[in-house]
Amino acid sequence: MRIILDCDPGIDDTYALIHLTAAAHAGELELECVTTTAGNVEADQCARNAAWILSLCNVPWTPLAAGIPEPLGWELTTTPDTHGDTGLGYATAPERHIESDWDMLWIDAIERGTDDLHLIVSGPMTNLAAFARLHPEHYKKLKHITVMGGAFNYPGNTTPTAEWNFWVDPHAAKEVFDSAPVPITLCPLNVTERMVLTPSRLDDLVSALSGSPLAEHLEPITRFYFEFHEDVGEGYRAQIHDLLTVMVALGQVPSAGELTTINLDPDSELFRGTAVADVKGIWEREPNARIISNADIDAAWALFDASCRIHSRIATGDAELDRLRHLRAED
Ligand code: BDR
Ligand code: CA
Repeated sequence: MRIILDCDPGIDDTYALIHLTAAAHAGELELECVTTTAGNVEADQCARNAAWILSLCNVPWTPLAAGIPEPLGWELTTTPDTHGDTGLGYATAPERHIESDWDMLWIDAIERGTDDLHLIVSGPMTNLAAFARLHPEHYKKLKHITVMGGAFNYPGNTTPTAEWNFWVDPHAAKEVFDSAPVPITLCPLNVTERMVLTPSRLDDLVSALSGSPLAEHLEPITRFYFEFHEDVGEGYRAQIHDLLTVMVALGQVPSAGELTTINLDPDSELFRGTAVADVKGIWEREPNARIISNADIDAAWALFDASCRIHSRIATGDAELDRLRHLRAED
């Protein structure tokens, strides 16, 4: 399996990167490229953050580029309250030059074939919508797309009805769902809010990372997210949406979902970012999404624990492939 990750790191996006790179070390997938979208912070800052995390994960050579800097319709809003001024909580990524040829990276990956290519979007869908406009022939070839976004008959985290990624760029979300080449696997808040990280679980993860440079940085990155969740009444813990999304995309955790058609009214002030799912088929339109409604959260955390141990082995030079894979089997 080959992966394009389009993300906005972002604290939970960072967990997604840690997991994907561990899977790449274990030979379970090939991380084709990482591109960034404006969302949690600006797209360039997201790329700087991703570059740093990729180097802490021992894959600094992963092709990386920043994507479109502004949403398609609304002005960009970022969320320093949620992810910190840098996007990485109390941590700061070093400065570095960032490339901007994100669409060429996607085209390269698509030209190598799309049967085993999975595009995962863990931020607003700006790049994906722009790609559909700029390169429709390549866009239509995509066969596996998974997105974190939306809240269906479930409270939003940005307005009473809207989830953050859809709210930042609802025009992009609408364009993608209107033109989706295949039904998009969608991980909404309904399921991702169950992927809860507690301080004691974080302690265990940091121990599992022993020897990896990630061990030193994961706590200050995550502490900010715990504090944010406490401030908004969720308790001193954190919902790691994008990590669960990646695991669902990889088919690594048992999950259940339903094929349906979704739509948005992107210009509405009141319902900005609110997605509606036609579960009864009233619109008589082809399905454009498979909405995930359930996933095995215990299995997901066990997998992530194994990913942390893979990073520990990689960092300490104990990186024989069979042994890395065995770390998954132990769970
Ligand atoms: C989504 O919003 C962002 O803040 C997170 O990174 C996640 O992708 C959750 O609504
Ligand atoms: Ca994100």
